[in-house]
Amino acid sequence: MNRQFSMLILFLGISVNAIAQQKSIEQRVDSLLKLMTLQEKIGQLNQYSGRQVTGPESKVKTDLRSDIKNGWVGSMLNVKGVKDTREIQELAMESRLKIPLLFSLDVIHGYQTTFPIPLAEAASWDLEAIRLSAHIAAKESAAAGIHWTFAPMVDISRDPRWGRVMEGAGEDTYLGSLIASARVKGFQGEKLGNTDAVMACAKHFAAYGASIAGRDYNAVDLSDHQLWETYLPPFKAAVDAGVATFMNSFNTLNGIPATGNQYLQRDILKGKWNYKGFVVSDWGSIGEMVTWGYARDNAEAAEKAINAGSDMDMESRAYKNYLHRLIKENKVSESVVDDAVRRILYKKFELGLFDNPYKFSDLKREAKVLSDVSHKNIARDVAKKSIVLLKNESALLPLAKGKTKLALIGPLVKSKRDHKGSWIVNTDTVQVVSLYEGISNKLGKKAEIKYAQGCSITGNSQEGFEEAVNYAKQSDVVIMALGESWDMSGEAKSKTNIHLNGEQEALFNAVKATGKPVVVILMAGRPLIFNDIAAKADAILYAWWLGDEAGNAIADVLFGDYNPSGKLPVTFPRHEGQIPLSYNYYNTGRPIKNPKYITYKSAYIDSPNTPAFAFGHGLSFTNFEYKDLVLSKDKLNSGESVKVEFTLVNNGKYAGEEVVQLYLKDEVASVVRPMKELKDFTKVYLQSGESKKINFVINKEKLSFYNNQLEWGAEPGDFLVMIGTASDDIKLQSRFTLLEGNVSDR
Ligand code: GLC
Repeated sequence: MNRQFSMLILFLGISVNAIAQQKSIEQRVDSLLKLMTLQEKIGQLNQYSGRQVTGPESKVKTDLRSDIKNGWVGSMLNVKGVKDTREIQELAMESRLKIPLLFSLDVIHGYQTTFPIPLAEAASWDLEAIRLSAHIAAKESAAAGIHWTFAPMVDISRDPRWGRVMEGAGEDTYLGSLIASARVKGFQGEKLGNTDAVMACAKHFAAYGASIAGRDYNAVDLSDHQLWETYLPPFKAAVDAGVATFMNSFNTLNGIPATGNQYLQRDILKGKWNYKGFVVSDWGSIGEMVTWGYARDNAEAAEKAINAGSDMDMESRAYKNYLHRLIKENKVSESVVDDAVRRILYKKFELGLFDNPYKFSDLKREAKVLSDVSHKNIARDVAKKSIVLLKNESALLPLAKGKTKLALIGPLVKSKRDHKGSWIVNTDTVQVVSLYEGISNKLGKKAEIKYAQGCSITGNSQEGFEEAVNYAKQSDVVIMALGESWDMSGEAKSKTNIHLNGEQEALFNAVKATGKPVVVILMAGRPLIFNDIAAKADAILYAWWLGDEAGNAIADVLFGDYNPSGKLPVTFPRHEGQIPLSYNYYNTGRPIKNPKYITYKSAYIDSPNTPAFAFGHGLSFTNFEYKDLVLSKDKLNSGESVKVEFTLVNNGKYAGEEVVQLYLKDEVASVVRPMKELKDFTKVYLQSGESKKINFVINKEKLSFYNNQLEWGAEPGDFLVMIGTASDDIKLQSRFTLLEGNVSDR
């Protein structure tokens, strides 16, 4: 009794302390707000990019610095490093009320240490590895004077024409929600204000991944049902994880720009979800509402944005230039501005910046943290877990480390910059391990390696083919490195053609014609189409953009020091014409039953409906057997759960990890339901010969969906339970019946 009682007292003490702390911050915010002029309040809503605020003298620099000294700026982006952030913070300390600046930056996959791109890390399905990656990025950023990262990007996307698919967690809402939560917790750590944590930012709110035609800055037209069912849950997961800020997005949603969208920012985010953080616009997106034709001029754009809940203005200067007048004209209430200012000041207090504006600007800590070599080991670990083994005919991989004549061929064999991908902070490439270096590091003097570039990534010359083919003929095994250059995916990198560029696939065919075994390693920021390689290569690794430790991580897999465990977080189409394509498709009224008979079926006359590689696909060097599926009951009353148990056996010769996936199909419902939806997964490590009972629990939440009235709940009927190693490779299945439904307010 004593122990429980003391635990209760401790818990109450902590809660009371937290509430007291929150109270005191709210009181401090209110006291400060009372002292602020309207101009100073508007200043807090103004964010400038600081590319010119340090460095050579210029008029821009002078103007920026004088606005900061006048207290007309609340935050800077793109100022980094202790030296520069301290210098600029000192300018802010010259202002009347000495309100500190927030320093923000796009730390998307690493600051000093470049980690794999987010889509690659999503392929690890390893939430702890993903959290840790974000934590190291936060630790390095915070040591370099950064308070706030514009990450995680949590946009669900089923369109690989969209270059920003590289920044997210892929196509699935369930996986994307868990990853959103892991990344927020990684960035924000134990507590905001700690010097190994930064504010996270859930972006782009909302549904940017559904841009028409896969083009950036374009419109999004979605049913409310799809918005709530598919695109909002990762944002809600970020809110539940305590995300400090949101960023809205360039797209319109059903005709209203997200930046000026009351439904999104006020009704849903700050209303239904009761969100207390603040929303920053995307770069210039307030002013872009004029270009959209949603506002006559920047004054009206400012009015619509602030009234719709967009608190901070990134780089359009609409708030700084027009809010004062809009308030005088009673088009914007000062209370709306006060609410936005409160939200921003609250975070500055929470970070401890009023107590010490230079808390994050410590030169010694910066030097120590940014040179911590343990970060590379963490980067290498998550990189190898992100590699997906797509194909491995006759168990060609892993390769023997002994005396092997290797031909390394392709435009990405010696590349360094490409492994960092886009959205990077540290542009130095000296520390990046190329594939060539990774293999040399692994094999040392034992290996006989011949290298030929063969062709460039985009050029149409085949001049290098002869040398490549000759080296292939002299080798035991050929390893080819093909794919995208770092600037082919990312923002403003939409493509109509996601096939391999240039003569890369022709180079593969020329090399394969030698009859030698060929391992193809594909490196890219998005799913690519490579049908010849998929058909003819002996082994294929999808290595995305793996960051600084790419070469070492790929070599770990190639030579068996790590048994690959990655699973695709996104579907790979056979052709662009299939897009949008995802695993959770609907049955339609005329599904293909037999691929030979497609007349009057929901089919293409020139391609199968199936993808080249499915969501959840990823092979191992070992073999996993699934058996003995048992459900705890086959009939459920409302609110009850059903336990799912099966046995996983590693009956291959290598130890390894398997991501076992649980899918459900709601057989009949008031709205049509997908053929399958991912509802749970776990990553299991088994020694060769080892077996383990795996358990899942299917609760009411996993049976629920939004019905046509957007009510959240489960409906009575039959459910198909599927356990698989991929969405298109179901190993076990069973059924249960929900006897009565339930509708809850969510
Ligand atoms: C960009 C991006 C956004 C980024 C911001 C600041 O245009 O859309 O994701 O955080 O501007 O760089």
